[in-house]
Amino acid sequence: MAVLEIVEVPDPRLRVVSTAVESVDDAIRQLVTDMTDTMYAAKGIGLAAIQVGVASRVVVIDLQTEEDADGKPIRAPHAYINPEILSVSDELSSYSEGCLSIPEQYADVERPARCRVRWLDTDGLAHEEELDGLLSTCMQHEIDHCDGILFIDHVSRLKREMLLRKLAKQRKAA
Ligand code: NI
Repeated sequence: MAVLEIVEVPDPRLRVVSTAVESVDDAIRQLVTDMTDTMYAAKGIGLAAIQVGVASRVVVIDLQTEEDADGKPIRAPHAYINPEILSVSDELSSYSEGCLSIPEQYADVERPARCRVRWLDTDGLAHEEELDGLLSTCMQHEIDHCDGILFIDHVSRLKREMLLRKLAKQRKAA
């Protein structure tokens, strides 16, 4: 188990456009394992490779919406390699988003409610699926990371500056 350090704003690496994975090999599988460990350790539901400083188009997501008898979230991690949005719905939905790279700051972000996505799994096999609900939002947020885009880019400048000021204050207090 390897928990990696998460890159936080204003680190310029978060603005890098990640490159596509050319072959899904053991190094990529190890990266997926480490990213998954890191996501759980940070209590996140999604993580893109650039958030651990690796500029490859790799995303892990586990919404952890189901609980076991003891009320503990049931883990079902999924890896998405070279995820690509093929189409989006006209219908929008709004969700209060957060990001492990912008700790403890949240804002309502409006995005297409559904998206059709293609990706490779850790065996290098291609998949294509229509996503909706939180998974659709989360996937769009993580693919944004692969393109150097953060959720705060989707809100007004006023709101963005307020969130970053709150984060600075919180860091100072820590
Ligand atoms: Ni994020």
